Amino acid sequence: MRHLLSTQDLSREQATAILDEAERFEQALTGREVKKLPTLRGRTVMTVFYENSTRTRVSFEVAGKWMSADVINVSASSSSAGKGESLRDTVKTLYAAGADALIVRHPASGAARQIADWTTAADGSGPSIINAGDGMHEHPTQALLDALTLRQRLGSLDGKRIAIVGDVLHSRVARSNAYLLSTLGAEVVLVAPPTLLPTGVEQWPVTVSTDIDAELAAVDAVMMLRVQAERMNGGFFPSSREYSVRYGLNERRLALMADDAVVLHPGPMLRGMEIGYSVADSPRATVLEQVRNGVHVRMAVLFGLLVGTDPETTTPVPNSR
Ligand code: CP
Repeated sequence: MRHLLSTQDLSREQATAILDEAERFEQALTGREVKKLPTLRGRTVMTVFYENSTRTRVSFEVAGKWMSADVINVSASSSSAGKGESLRDTVKTLYAAGADALIVRHPASGAARQIADWTTAADGSGPSIINAGDGMHEHPTQALLDALTLRQRLGSLDGKRIAIVGDVLHSRVARSNAYLLSTLGAEVVLVAPPTLLPTGVEQWPVTVSTDIDAELAAVDAVMMLRVQAERMNGGFFPSSREYSVRYGLNERRLALMADDAVVLHPGPMLRGMEIGYSVADSPRATVLEQVRNGVHVRMAVLFGLLVGTDPETTTPVPNSR
């Protein structure tokens, strides 16, 4: 695998190998006072974020540093993008400056794949591109860390029923999870008001419902999505109050779920909107487990792209430049 752009590109075997690798990294680091492996010594990893982030940017930085990579963070607001430099010129500049991997978040859907095209030479050389969120399209490492969290809580995902609830229309997390969880054998049901469902959703590997109360008793997990007001030009229907009443995961709704069913949220959470304060802090919620798993999944992804998929290999392959 050269890039990680979309969960739709991952086979069941490839996805499972990444999750297994992430668990090996977790085990390798457990109990160590100094969390440092030599795995990516001499490699340069750059995060290039044109949208805000806490979890994704930080966990990629931690992942790289725990594997001894040199990690450089580039934010659009403090880079020459602010002087009008194009995305194409910026990413080619960062490769020329030494990046072995570019981890990119951008508001345009398809940006990561476009960057991979721009930076891959005819002889195949170029940096590995990791999609850290492209507009409303995909966020593959988020889906991988969600899948790992679900696997740890529920066991095999084969036949498990997972509800993804809320603002599916604007959610790259929903699309990446719908495809990945389905590839891993789960049944995915999207639950949303009709106004917050994307066109073409009937082609996704999911079923669709508009009634959260009708779904909760039968699910093994529910993944609540943030309502993305920043992509809504000032308003949305239903109103935030109506949304909270009709789709928010409160204590009453949590009680409709099976005792061992779990609650995921990719963060950042809007407490009191899509998820109740006490539900977010409940032992059934996996929010901070997801964040911890995010570091190990991102280690596995960087390792797989820059070194290879053999978990026993710790010697970096020669740099292609
Ligand atoms: N889940 C997620 O992508 O969070 P950040 O926007 O904080 O990276």
